[in-house]
Amino acid sequence: MPLNDSPRDIAVVFGTRPEIIKLAGIITELDDRARIVHTGQHYDNALSSAFFANFGLPQPHLLLDGATGPWGRGHQVGTLIAELTREFTLAPPRAVIVQGDTNSTSAGAQAAHYCGIPVVHVEAGLRSRDRSMPEEINRQVVGVIADIHCAATPEAADNLLAEGVAPERIRITGNTVVEATLRSLPRPEAVDALLARLDIPDAFVLATFHRPENSDDPVRLAAVLESLAGLGLPAVVPLHPRTRAKIKEFGLEPAAERLLLVEPVDHPTFLALAGRARLLVSDSGGVQEETTVLKKPLLVVRTSTERPEAVRAGFAHLVEPGRELLTTARRLLADAGLGDRLAATASPYGDGTASVRISAIARALADGAPVPEPLPQPLSATGS
Ligand code: UD1
Ligand code: UDP
Repeated sequence: MPLNDSPRDIAVVFGTRPEIIKLAGIITELDDRARIVHTGQHYDNALSSAFFANFGLPQPHLLLDGATGPWGRGHQVGTLIAELTREFTLAPPRAVIVQGDTNSTSAGAQAAHYCGIPVVHVEAGLRSRDRSMPEEINRQVVGVIADIHCAATPEAADNLLAEGVAPERIRITGNTVVEATLRSLPRPEAVDALLARLDIPDAFVLATFHRPENSDDPVRLAAVLESLAGLGLPAVVPLHPRTRAKIKEFGLEPAAERLLLVEPVDHPTFLALAGRARLLVSDSGGVQEETTVLKKPLLVVRTSTERPEAVRAGFAHLVEPGRELLTTARRLLADAGLGDRLAATASPYGDGTASVRISAIARALADGAPVPEPLPQPLSATGS
């Protein structure tokens, strides 16, 4: 059978919770052309299979063991490259799609490229300019490798142009998180049932954090926990396993017990919580984007962000833990007109059609056909 007629000829490679959420729509659009390759980087049900169920995805066609363990990033990326290279050599796909900036993203792009398979990078062009973030290096590695860069916004496209990526390789597609959020968001009448299992108070703040800059430094982690406990409203925290492990390692359980800690929840439940919360506090990338769809205020506990669009649109506020976090939270909670202003502000991350656009791009690349929608001309440095 000619390769062109064979199903599952577009490999979608991913390994973590946010990648599943953001690639689900593309996998659905690709239908029987999608070969689902899960690296196993996230292996707990609460970070992985729960999201397959949320989006009605079939089981992975290939599941690796994640190369997790005590040997760090180099070992994980290197092992995954070797395993994916073997897979792509035995059964070559005609294109590979990767998303975002995780170790799985880097390994998937590198393995495909070394096997001569074209790479589509979803959510291309994000830059925090913070080289201490593993994700910033992963993004740059994939930025060098990708054949087609699907930038969510004009600003992300500008970042790529500034690094010398040829304009004909860039498409502005929006971010697939918009349709993922719209799809997962429970109807108002279903929210109470979803939240009933969690014993949540009427008024609360929703917080998530897992970035190494917050979780791996005991002083900073203690400061984040103290700040969340001092908000004047209970803080509901679906705790990422990385953060849970660090709280234990640093003996910070007494500070953590002042928060309403819950296990990580599935996507509809998270969005139900976010919709009910008075305020969101997070270091998550995806939550910075979702807040622009949910029209909720968000404090981003980070020293930098690769998502300045959410800040400029008025949804997100970059804060340090401690006094800045607390004063900004009080100001936002006291701002009676904020909800209406955010409700009237468009999401900078697109209109919910990114998955359709990106799947069309990947199909064309796999078929050797012209890739749709070239940028008409190089964007300006300001993204206008
Ligand atoms: C990873 C990504 C990060 C992304 C995040 C999404 C990299 C470098 N980091 O960070 O960009 O924002 O996923 O959540 O790729 N663990 C479990 N169970 C799991 C998975 C992880 O207990 O299913 C624990 C393990 O102790 C592991 C630690 O969490 O060592 C960190 O996991 P890892 O995948 O390395 O990084 P994340 O912090 O999850
Ligand atoms: N999320 C979820 N359940 C949780 C916490 C987060 O479904 O308990 C979702 C959230 O809605 C967002 C994504 O997970 O879509 C963000 O993942 P994470 O913060 O782990 O990674 P990042 O986006 O920072 O890479």
